[in-house]
Formats: sequence, structure tokens, C-alpha cells
Amino acid sequence: MNSENPAAQAEQNSNLRPDGSKKIVLSGIRSTGNLHLGNYYGALQKFVKMQDDYDSRYFIADLHALTTNPDPKALHESVKQILAEYLAAGLDPDKNILYVQSDIPEISEMYLLMNMHVGIGELMRTASFKDKARKALGITSENDEIEKEIIGNQNNNARVNAGLLTYPTLMAVDILIHHADYVPVGKDQEQHLELTRRFGRRFNSFYGVDYFKEPVNFNFGGEAIKVPGLDGSGKMGKSEGNCIYLIDDEKTLRKKVMRAVTDAGPTEPNSPVSQPVENLFTLMDLVSGKDTTDHFREKYADCSIRYGDLKKQLAEDLLKVTLPIRQRILDIRDNDEYLSKIVKQGAERTREYAAKTLKDVREIMGIRKI
Ligand code: TYM
Repeated sequence: MNSENPAAQAEQNSNLRPDGSKKIVLSGIRSTGNLHLGNYYGALQKFVKMQDDYDSRYFIADLHALTTNPDPKALHESVKQILAEYLAAGLDPDKNILYVQSDIPEISEMYLLMNMHVGIGELMRTASFKDKARKALGITSENDEIEKEIIGNQNNNARVNAGLLTYPTLMAVDILIHHADYVPVGKDQEQHLELTRRFGRRFNSFYGVDYFKEPVNFNFGGEAIKVPGLDGSGKMGKSEGNCIYLIDDEKTLRKKVMRAVTDAGPTEPNSPVSQPVENLFTLMDLVSGKDTTDHFREKYADCSIRYGDLKKQLAEDLLKVTLPIRQRILDIRDNDEYLSKIVKQGAERTREYAAKTLKDVREIMGIRKI
């Protein structure tokens, strides 16, 4: 986009803002269970790689987790677990601000204010809302008119709650309250990021200010990624039940990989690769060297591939990534004192930034003391 504007291009490639301060990176993960490889390659690994060069702030999105009404005890355990997983994957509390979303009351207040500039129509059209609403209502067809289902049926009031609908507002506030430059996320979150930019622009234009900037995803120059599942489906996800978790032990991981969906195998040279097999190649691209993937792709092309061998190799290479992380998770996760100290410090620092933004936003919107 900026290829004809070298100054803009240079600014985009730099980790510094024009005033010389480090660019701000902000991202979070919902506390809805253990982290899987999709979370790791789509988000967490990028967090770790960015921590030396940016002013980076990462949080645990427990308010977002509430949108699917988790068991209170499970929610609390999950917050601790995710924090332990952040640290185990390599996030250094001295290099990053790490905090829990619900520790920052300013976020909740700004969410209320920002909702005044968000349309229910645009929220209802969001892909993730439609997906989650469909799941909550047990609708399997893509074509069902989900809006009619929700509005027309009184029984659906609790199952598709207003928090789920306004999820993108809360996410936008998470980001805008920090004035973040970059938001490292996986492909599935890009629509939310687009909405964040839209809400920020709308706020600016409504009040005639140049207050919020437009945050973008960060992928080290590449494309946003989508890690596929082991069941042949396009996306690894907790609710899809097709995940490899960072905390999986060796036996569990091997078993999952060996059971991954494939097909009957190629019968003619250079046949097109089916989705489930392509998924295994994609996973292999992430964890094994390129040579290994090329080797199996060639075997596929000449019909000599044995999926059992491919899976054994894949499991081996996955374990090299996950087992050291698993060990560190186990070492850290019961150290409550250590964990709570980290998020206490993180909350203090975040509240300073958040309070400043909230003060400005209130002022801009006309909420002033009499
Ligand atoms: P969540 O908790 O669903 O996922 C956390 C991160 O993991 C990425 N991810 C994937 N990436 C690639 N392939 C996959 N199969 C895969 N599955 C998950 C997601 O893209 C995400 O980066 N709404 C967010 C949490 C959030 C947030 C924010 C993120 C709340 N506020 C502000 C950034 C900034 C979510 O539900 O992610």
C-alpha cells in the first residue's frame, strides 16, 4: 500500500513511532481452557518474538470468556493456567506487561461508552457471533436466518446473551485503550480487528477528533495464519475438539496424531491433496523443517506415502515443541504467589495507561464534572 511512499513504508517497518518511543503491541487470549497449537502459532509465539523490540502488553481475556457462561471455578483455574502458559512459552514478565482483563475496571467503563457508537446490525453480521449463536442454538445449517431465530424465539434470550453480541466492542476497547499499533492475532480474529479500526474511526469522526489510531495485525511480513485441526476441518479450536494442547503429555499427543483423519491415499501420481492430508502437511510446515515436509510431499506425489510414517514424524516434531513448554507449565502453575505478583504489577501499570485514555474519552464525549 505504501510502496510509493518510502517514508510511510519505513515507518511501517520500524519498531519505533515517529516520536522515538517503541510501538505498542497488545494482544490477549480468552481463558476458556488450555492453550492449543492454534493459539500458539497464531498468537503466543508471535508475542514471544515481539517482546524484545516493542512496548508489549499481553492479557488474559476473562471477561470475553464470560460470554459463553463458564463454570466460575473453571474460569478462575483457566486464568491461572493461561498465565502459566504465557510464561512457559517464553513471555518474560520483566519485558512485558502481563495482566488480567477484569483487573482493569477502566476497560468495562469504556466498553459501556464505546457501545454507544456500535450498531447492533454490524454486530449481528459478525462471523464469530453467527458461529457462536448457531452453536448455542444447535443450528447446523449455514443458511438459517440466525437473526430471525434469535429475535423470534423467547427461549433464546439466555443462550445468546448480549455480551456475546457486544464481544467486538469489548475487544476494540482492549486495543484502543492502549492506543496499540500492533495486535498479533490469528486469521480468525482479523474481522474483529477490522471492526476495532471502524469503531475508532467512527469515534474520531463523530467527535471531530484525531484520537484513536488504526491498529493492525502483525505477522513478521507474512500472512495471518490458521492452524488446522486433526479432524480434517479447517481450524483447530477448543469447541471443535480437534486440538493438540501445549499441556498434552507425550502419550496423549502421539495418540491424537496417530488418529488424525486422512484419506485412502493417492492412487495416481500428482493427485490433488485432500483437505485432511493438506492439514497434516500444514502442521508439518509449522513444526518440522521444510526438508521434512518436502520429503513427504514428494512421497505423496509418487504415491509411495504411508500416512503412518508421516504421522510418526509429525508427532515427533510436535513433541519437540510442546514437551519443554509442558514441563515449564507444570513447574509454574501452582506457584500462586509468583503468578499473582506478576498480574498485580501488570494491572497497576495497565490501569495507569487505561485511566488516561478513559479520562480523555469521557472528556471528548462530554462527561464532565458539574
Ligand atoms: P481466542 O482466545 O479465541 O484465541 C487466542 C488467539 O489464538 C488465535 N487462534 C488461532 N490462530 C491460528 N489458528 C487457529 N486455529 C487459532 N485458534 C486460535 C486467535 O486468532 C487469537 O489470536 N477475541 C480474542 C481474544 C481477545 C483479543 C483482544 C485479542 C480479546 N480481546 C484484544 C487481541 C486483542 C479471542 O477470542 O481469541
